[in-house]
Amino acid sequence: MEHLNQEKSAEADVQATPEASATKASRKVFVKTYGCQMNVYDSDRMTDALTNDGYEATDAMEEADLVILNTCHIREKAAEKVYSELGRIRKLKEEKAKDGKQMMVSVAGCVAQAEGAEISRRAPVVDLVVGPQSYHRLPELLNRASNGSKVVETEFDIEEKFEHLAKPTKEAVRKRGVTSFLTVQEGCDKFCTFCVVPYTRGAEVSRSVEQIVGEARRLAGAGVREVTLLGQNVNAWHGEGPDGREWGLGELLFELAKVDGITRLRYTTSHPRDMDDALIAAHRDLDILMPYLHLPVQSGSDAILKAMNRKHTRDEYFRLIDRIREAREDIAMSGDFIVGFPGETDQDFRDTMDLVERVGYASAFSFKYSPRPGTPGALLEEQVEESVKSERLSELQALLAQQQQAFNASLVGQNIEVLFEKMGRREGQLAGRSPWLQPVHVNAPAELYGEMATVEIVSSTANSLEARLI
Ligand code: SAH
Ligand code: SF4
Ligand code: F3S
Repeated sequence: MEHLNQEKSAEADVQATPEASATKASRKVFVKTYGCQMNVYDSDRMTDALTNDGYEATDAMEEADLVILNTCHIREKAAEKVYSELGRIRKLKEEKAKDGKQMMVSVAGCVAQAEGAEISRRAPVVDLVVGPQSYHRLPELLNRASNGSKVVETEFDIEEKFEHLAKPTKEAVRKRGVTSFLTVQEGCDKFCTFCVVPYTRGAEVSRSVEQIVGEARRLAGAGVREVTLLGQNVNAWHGEGPDGREWGLGELLFELAKVDGITRLRYTTSHPRDMDDALIAAHRDLDILMPYLHLPVQSGSDAILKAMNRKHTRDEYFRLIDRIREAREDIAMSGDFIVGFPGETDQDFRDTMDLVERVGYASAFSFKYSPRPGTPGALLEEQVEESVKSERLSELQALLAQQQQAFNASLVGQNIEVLFEKMGRREGQLAGRSPWLQPVHVNAPAELYGEMATVEIVSSTANSLEARLI
């Protein structure tokens, strides 16, 4: 540690003059992110830790001294992508070696956790395999791998990695924009029978109120306006509040609403079983909590919900949504669906279609069931044929697309609030998001970047809205 600190301060001295910094070749890191928002958050934390260790982030893999793939294991296709990418990286590494340049390769994330040493056996180009709970040890692990020995680190550390990871600099936060993710919870204890997350991310862990509020304040201080709280099971978050009582996500949202500078709050992903009264009350009472809820149900059939171990019925889901809509009339629903879970009959699938008709989704993700090694679902006998899965998926996606289009169209003519978070595709345009998460394109002066504005929606497409300033 001593040694690292000295190196850092020495570098700071060198960078004080531009001429000197130009002569100092800094190492570059390229991070590629797959999978969910939690991986996006983790990739930024890894970049922050490595920046502190003398690395500079780059968007060009060719110029990197270190390549990190932050991977996803949720479906077979997601995991396979990693190996095809590693094939390309091997060629790049060989070419660089011809020029006498070195490149380290690390696989992080959920494939790293699930496959461990198997990865470097199958892809010898990999120097370091690091699971999601060990990122705070990244500099030390890279150091160990740098002498050519293969390092695999997939322990579930009891240490809280986030509290040990470097905090981003104000400059780094600014570069990332006015919206930010903030992981409040990791892991999952639910063990749905199709899902790898409890194995790749481990048991549920909640960060403390103090840590979360501290991070939100730092983000707001660096210009962030919208914070999305993340967790594989975000509404299972719980922790001791400053009043000594056990808080849930609802209470936490009330606390975060007090942070100066934050104008919008969101959270994802929720489980229907953990939507408690305080959280529903937050949707009723907190204006800065956006009226959009991602609440995956996976299936509309009671038999399949049971086989998936979701621990609720379709009726309970309907009643829950009624309660949420009573609390916040304009809330838009979003969800995830799996078709072709083992044993799913035509009637089960019709029940899913019926559930979608009844709920009405503003947006949704839907997938063909992918049997995952190590999960109970993969061992079930009545696997559904691929062609049947494909048919069901297209029928479901057609309905979901129609609902999304109708939802977007229903906003035309309305005045809504937009937070401008990007320069637009066209000159003179800014892009923002509606309260319901749709991208909104507006002709607006660049000074409005990072600001909220009221706009009138003039047209809609399947995926976005067009608006004018008023
Ligand atoms: N915690 C969230 C889901 C996280 S995984 C929840 O409880 O809903 C994200 C989505 O991937 C899931 O909602 C599910 O729809 C999909 N998914 C997970 N495992 C899958 C599998 N084996 N095959 C197909 N889709 C899967
Ligand atoms: Fe996976 Fe179920 Fe946990 Fe969601 S709740 S992460 S689907 S096991
Ligand atoms: Fe994928 Fe891991 Fe997220 S499996 S969806 S990256 S938790």
